[in-house]
Amino acid sequence: MDKIQITGGNELYGEVKISGAKNAALPLIASSILVNGKTCFSNVPDLMDITSIKLLLEDLGASCRTLKGCLEVDGSSINKAEAEYDLVRKMRASILVLGPLVARFGHAKVSLPGGCAIGARPVNMHLSGLAALGASISIEHGYIEAKAKRLIGNDIYFDMPTVTGTENLMMAASLAKGTSVLRNAAREPEIVALADALTKMGAKINGAGTAIITIEGVKKLSPVDIKIIPDRIETGTFMVACAATGGDILIKGCEPKHIGGIINKLKATGTIVSTFKDSVRIVGKKPIKSVDIKTLPYPGFPTDMQAQFMTLMTIAKGNTMIHESIFENRFVHANELLRMGADIAISQGNIAMVRGVKTLQAAPVMASDLRASASLVIAGLIARGTTVISRVYHMDRGYEAIEKKFSLLGADIKRIN
Ligand code: EPZ
Repeated sequence: MDKIQITGGNELYGEVKISGAKNAALPLIASSILVNGKTCFSNVPDLMDITSIKLLLEDLGASCRTLKGCLEVDGSSINKAEAEYDLVRKMRASILVLGPLVARFGHAKVSLPGGCAIGARPVNMHLSGLAALGASISIEHGYIEAKAKRLIGNDIYFDMPTVTGTENLMMAASLAKGTSVLRNAAREPEIVALADALTKMGAKINGAGTAIITIEGVKKLSPVDIKIIPDRIETGTFMVACAATGGDILIKGCEPKHIGGIINKLKATGTIVSTFKDSVRIVGKKPIKSVDIKTLPYPGFPTDMQAQFMTLMTIAKGNTMIHESIFENRFVHANELLRMGADIAISQGNIAMVRGVKTLQAAPVMASDLRASASLVIAGLIARGTTVISRVYHMDRGYEAIEKKFSLLGADIKRIN
């Protein structure tokens, strides 16, 4: 199994290009199920999760091929509406095929995704939303079965904003008979990107990016070409890394409008942040000021940036309170940071108190989930000595060639196996 070896202490200088967003690409690729034809995706990141969803679509009978840098998915050959456990367990976001399959074929059998390191990750809101659209739902032997002759538009109320729940139901409602209204919908940029793509295919959607999304169902959707938006979490990861190591980097091909919550907090640490049309410049400044954060649905500070920001706060001047309000177990990375000399106390499960220390010490550490692995890379870049991170397959799920990108910025980092 691969590991990442980092010898810390180098400041970061130069330019880095951001890849397409994993969390935009996954629902967009799933939306090709809705179309009886070839949908072409450009700027698709080369990630394990993208491989996983391609394998899942091919198992359903779709054909996927890469043509001149575009991923072409032909939904016309889909002949199966069952997403097997073995494929779904590799990637929870496979649940995103449920809505499109029911909408296009009238039935679907999808393995329950199960939980992961950061939490139980239930899908009850996906299922109650589909039931509101008239689907009959049953759960047997670990599989969800959903059936509906044709989905019927309805009002759907989410108990709390759910990103993939909003995406699943927006896709399902696009082919329903009549109008649906999603209330308390998630507002992430990835939702807007999906709504834009569905609209290009012929869907009638209003309000994406707000808490109330109205979808007027249509009979069919047409194949289109879609460009994946930049990855705002990869952008934030490089911003925090430069703030932590010091240095001066230009992050290119990003969307500054999508990272306001991150910029706001980073500026409060004293880091110099300058934004341009499709790039952002970061100049690290010492001492790093401690800044409390609470993770929130978009446009609040993203939970997917909490682990990376915690690493930055381990060497800030003062104490930081970090409140993880989205997932119930998203502090697993703290145990590894403690082994590197950080001073962190976790209380009531969702609150971490981080007391700043002078620096971190290199140590062998283990990644537990995608964003925890990024926080350990940043810790390795800071720490005195050589850090080795194991289980980097977690990182390969969501970061494209991250060690190459950091190496080009002057980090002493390489993949070993
Ligand atoms: C998406 O996950 C992202 N994944 C996650 O990114 C991200 O952390 C999360 O949104 C929050 O922003 C993709 O987009 C593929 P939710 P999702 O439904 O949709 C609860 C990464 O690192 N909930 O918005 O699964 C849930 O337990 C990943 O790239 C229910 O209770 O998250 C959580 O507490 C990690 N019932 C909250 O809602 C449901 O039916 C928000 O979860 C659905 C969710």
